[in-house]
Amino acid sequence: MKFSSFPRVRLATLPTPLQYLPNLTKALGGPKIWVKRDDLTGLAFGGNKARKLDYIIGDVLEKGADVIVTGAGFQSNWCTQTVAAAKKAGLDIYLVKSAPFEDFDTEDWDGNHLLHHLMGAHVKTVHPDKFKDTIKAIMEKLKDEGRNPYYTPVGGSEPIGAGGYFNAVLELTYQANNEGVHFDYLVHATGSGGTQAGLVMGTKAFNTGMKVVGAAVGWGEVSEMKDKVKGIVEESKKRYDLDFNLTEDDLIVYNQYAGDGYGVMSDAKLKAVKLMAETEGIMIDPVYTATAMACLIDLARKGEFKETDNVVFLHTGGAVALFPYKEPLRAHLEGEPLPWKTPEWSPQ
Ligand SMILES: Cc1ncc(COP(=O)(O)O)c(C=O)c1O
Repeated sequence: MKFSSFPRVRLATLPTPLQYLPNLTKALGGPKIWVKRDDLTGLAFGGNKARKLDYIIGDVLEKGADVIVTGAGFQSNWCTQTVAAAKKAGLDIYLVKSAPFEDFDTEDWDGNHLLHHLMGAHVKTVHPDKFKDTIKAIMEKLKDEGRNPYYTPVGGSEPIGAGGYFNAVLELTYQANNEGVHFDYLVHATGSGGTQAGLVMGTKAFNTGMKVVGAAVGWGEVSEMKDKVKGIVEESKKRYDLDFNLTEDDLIVYNQYAGDGYGVMSDAKLKAVKLMAETEGIMIDPVYTATAMACLIDLARKGEFKETDNVVFLHTGGAVALFPYKEPLRAHLEGEPLPWKTPEWSPQ
């Protein structure tokens, strides 16, 4: 089946801007740095999930579902954009969020968690051990009530969602051509793997020659992350009838920029947030995009990119998480030791 014949609802504001970053380029003193502003996709506060949700909501509506069930971490950006997409499409939505203990829900209304409630999602917080069973129980209960629930996994990272980033490569290539630039590298944050899978599929299928670099945000080994991405690419090849050979060289993942783990603040992440803010006035989030920017900064400073290279940073959104992280940010700005490293709601 042709890619364009899969159902799609136009929820994301596209194309997102492609911008040259002269001040960051100067600060890093190496390759030319650009940003692809997927933080401006709309749907609540924007982010990478909007592109995936165009196709996921298309599938939901085609299947005649009336309620979405999904889950993720307590401060999930995925949940925020999925609730916004569901509401725009007139659908009901249940979120299961992992948290340190049952009923953590009432503890800390900030950032994304506040938004989930504001948009009227049904929110259930559970200990990570009960995450899968709770989703199953909600699905069963909804079916018993005569409803038609649709389950979508964390991050929408399966072939349907990955289609959004397959398509994004076409958009970026078109914009790059208009700017008369060729991108040698794209650097982005990789978590559940759908974004990287879509990008890799696009670069392979359209033979763009752009290397897709994923900065893992902190779950497990590099090999696990690569396997996750590879699995989604291989499944997607069947769905979209794509013909290319995925090689080891196509999967580039670094995991050292996550520091001590997912959501755990490090100097490098905080410096990345500050550098982007003070050179370009662009807010990145302390968890995902800070990890990716810390990666880009380090690779640039180590001379991993050539001076003539063009590197595009994919801004995948999430800046509302700056606010739940206000304490370590303040401490960093005032030159104090970090007051705490791991938020209570972090999945670590
Ligand atoms: C802001 C942000 N950037 C990047 C990612 C990673 O995207 P993916 O889960 O598709 O790997 C996420 C995932 O939640 C995110 O919220």
